[in-house]
Amino acid sequence: MAERYDLLIRGGTVIDGTLAPRYAADVAVRDGRIAAIGALQGARAAAEIDATGRIVAPGFIDAHTHDDRLLLSDPSMAPKASQGVTTVVTGNCGISLAPMPAGTKPPPPLDLLDEGGGWFRFPRFADYVAALREQPAATNAALLVGHSTLRVQAMADLGRPANAKEVARMRALADEALAAGAIGVSTGLWYEPASAATTQEVIEVCRPLAARRGLYCTHMRDEGDRVMASLEETFRIGRELGVPVVVSHHKVMGKANHGRSVETLPLIEARMREQAIGLDCYPYCASSTILTASRVDVATRVLVTWSKPHPEFAGLELAEIARRMGLSTAEAIARLLPAGAIYFSMDEADVQRILAFARTMVGSDGLPHDAAPHPRLWGTFPRVLGHYARGLNLFPLETAVHKMTGLTAQTFGLADRGVLRQGHAADITVFDAATVDEAATFARPIQPARGIDAVIVNGEPVWQDGKTTGARPGRVLARH
Ligand code: ZN
Ligand code: CU
Repeated sequence: MAERYDLLIRGGTVIDGTLAPRYAADVAVRDGRIAAIGALQGARAAAEIDATGRIVAPGFIDAHTHDDRLLLSDPSMAPKASQGVTTVVTGNCGISLAPMPAGTKPPPPLDLLDEGGGWFRFPRFADYVAALREQPAATNAALLVGHSTLRVQAMADLGRPANAKEVARMRALADEALAAGAIGVSTGLWYEPASAATTQEVIEVCRPLAARRGLYCTHMRDEGDRVMASLEETFRIGRELGVPVVVSHHKVMGKANHGRSVETLPLIEARMREQAIGLDCYPYCASSTILTASRVDVATRVLVTWSKPHPEFAGLELAEIARRMGLSTAEAIARLLPAGAIYFSMDEADVQRILAFARTMVGSDGLPHDAAPHPRLWGTFPRVLGHYARGLNLFPLETAVHKMTGLTAQTFGLADRGVLRQGHAADITVFDAATVDEAATFARPIQPARGIDAVIVNGEPVWQDGKTTGARPGRVLARH
């Protein structure tokens, strides 16, 4: 009797996510898990995918997202599933959708998750987790709870360090989130709601991480002139808590700092010998977040991604908007707020050096609710595979896949994901190594990638033939 499977992916070339060289094999799935890998000619299955000439890889894990709300408001997760992403890490940069009582109007940058549409409505983190379980999305999610979100809840005045009572309240909220299923805490110490927080405040709020076995992820206090001090602050927080840290979207911003990844990467590498450190990076030399004058000052070019009072300017250059308004740049910024922007402020050599660093994971940092989003939202993973691995030969395809799968699962502690191995969860991406690339551009950012054939989450196809399938097999993942 031939073995019977739920799904058989025939004739492909496996890149397993471990850095091991590719090999030809069929992959069989049963009950949401990888049941067999090898020559399975005689096997039969309820469904088959012909992967002749294609790569069969573990589903990609987006190490850095702001998809907290997208999981609920567009559970097809099209911007991510279309890239081959099967798991998203949410709640980054200090910003999480929960815990936050209904009716709260949080300040920027928390409004990146919701510009007033009532999505902040989960008073406890457990309520958010329950909503995700009741209405699953197409992809899995690993959740972080944001320190800025906790500050908005616990503090009346965000412009100063938290007092003992406020720290205790935030610590209790962090503990509740971790108990409910969050895998860690994130901070966004560069942003206004958290920039007054001291290192000690962060340490005290994050205390529950050690007992709950969580990790600490950070958008650091400074990614420009004071980037080295910010790295040391991050490492100190990790050491004092005794937990792993992840440096989010590592970069060096501003013309004066171009080239300084030659300083940051050796420091990271040296500290990695003493403590657990991860880092991620998006493959572009333009950043994107809320519109602020300080970032405009160090950028060579600025695109406006959304503006509440002036939605008609989304997608235009700030200089052009100022010209049309007949105003100075500073005056135009004031009129556009609240708003988002893309800043061309990094050096391509730094981006490549950071991306090629052996321990760098791929994370999109995409902003799914922007009217004219940075193309990283739809293009990050195919761009690394196509532009950087195939086009520029920055590293072999096996390395590119590892940076978005095995390395990421290991860094975040996601058990039985990220590596294509018998018994692991069946998160699988089938793609064409010859054509895979982003289709999104700065001018036309909302475009599904090229060369992604099939994307399977927990054994079920969620993206096939260039569109979502309607399946919603995603789960909330725990840290082992
Ligand atoms: Zn950030
Ligand atoms: Cu971010």
